[in-house]
Amino acid sequence: MTDLAESPAVRRLDDWDAAALTELVDEYGSPLYALDLERVRENYRRLESAFPDAEIFYAVKANALGDVLEALHGAGAGLECASAGEVKRALAASGSGADVHYTAVNPPARDLDWVVDAWEDDPELTITVGAEETIDRLEERGYDGRLCLRVNPGIGAGHHEKVQTGAAAKFGVPAERAVEVLADADERGFDVVGVHAHVGSGVSSDQLDDHREFVSRMGDLARAVDDALEGDGLEFVDVGGGFGVPYREDEQPLDLEAVAEATRDALGDVDARLAIEPGRYFVADAGVLLTEVNTVKEARDTLAVGVDAGMTTLLRPAMYDAYHPIRNLTAALEADSADDAGRETVAQTIAGPICESGDVFCTDRQLPASERKDVIAIGNAGAYGYEMANQYNSRPRPASVVIDGETRRLARRRETFDDVTRVETDRSRPADADREAHNEDETR
Ligand code: LLP
Repeated sequence: MTDLAESPAVRRLDDWDAAALTELVDEYGSPLYALDLERVRENYRRLESAFPDAEIFYAVKANALGDVLEALHGAGAGLECASAGEVKRALAASGSGADVHYTAVNPPARDLDWVVDAWEDDPELTITVGAEETIDRLEERGYDGRLCLRVNPGIGAGHHEKVQTGAAAKFGVPAERAVEVLADADERGFDVVGVHAHVGSGVSSDQLDDHREFVSRMGDLARAVDDALEGDGLEFVDVGGGFGVPYREDEQPLDLEAVAEATRDALGDVDARLAIEPGRYFVADAGVLLTEVNTVKEARDTLAVGVDAGMTTLLRPAMYDAYHPIRNLTAALEADSADDAGRETVAQTIAGPICESGDVFCTDRQLPASERKDVIAIGNAGAYGYEMANQYNSRPRPASVVIDGETRRLARRRETFDDVTRVETDRSRPADADREAHNEDETR
């Protein structure tokens, strides 16, 4: 176990062992996600030491691989889930509803049915609702368990407008209505345990003022709710996740101490525990995406480099114009060998195999001139990488390898063409043949 003092606040793409990563591609093929579990644990311990009094949940949506859930739960984290599917995985990994929070956003009936069933077996599970109607729908299903209210604090932050949730209409009950809604839920027999809000994802140090304003609103709210609730009062105030990580090579890590201090200042006198639920912070720099160059050509103003990963493998650049560090591992290894003069650095556009112009990982990035069969590493791919991968263009999703100390394990096999078509029904069967079974399975 790495000593926390020796664990850097950020692991840069250059810090990965280029030879070991190219070996993984030799062994498992490309494209390939690689995830270092020990780095995940280090990130957990760093955050825990900045927030020693907080209850820490891991936002499963950042990376739901079973190895990750087990590593973080083993390190002490609870698991925050965005869907019934995630709750299923979280219960399998943790073995206990007491460590699982389900944050229901416009929950499909199937999700509520499934989670309420799970709660009947495991009554310590907590459900966070973001609309009054969700409370009604839970009541209709006989749920009167642990209930947390997600509020809309009216202030958002984050790396892109598409991930700034705190003021977006779809999330939470307006904070000014929270007391009324919770008092009502309390009266109806729910076990009201918490208030929750999530300001957005990828909050950076220069958005610290927004964070301060956000937690101060949550402090005011928690005090007002505590006054209004008869009985036990609130167990926790959950201020969500959103801790940003540096993606650019020159970006500094988030000032965790400053965030923790601002949070303590705002909530210090609130008689409830602080809960946080980061996702990205634990896994982003613990993962890389490895991809092989298959095509190199001189375009008009740039070297156009084609690789075998694309927006179906890592969607973030296409969806948020997200920057990811990129390193040509083959060129780096050549440069390390004494007899090589090194390759020329040129502007290049690295793009995937999907028929969309948005399918690019970088444009005009200065890198050593790529050649066919080079292995390229795309950094900070551990969060929202595989989770957002898809099968567009009938492209099977990639494999994932987990590194844990000296061990390397194929954690998820590469999909096949058959995986892509597996859910299609047999066209020779009668039109209605599969309907009943289809509608009966509540996990669909
Ligand atoms: N809690 C709630 C209620 C959330 O909605 C989220 C993220 C988190 C916690 C964790 O946020 P984090 O600590 O990971 O920033 N796909 C986007 C990020 C979307 C985040 C959605 N919610 C991306 O790739 O940047």
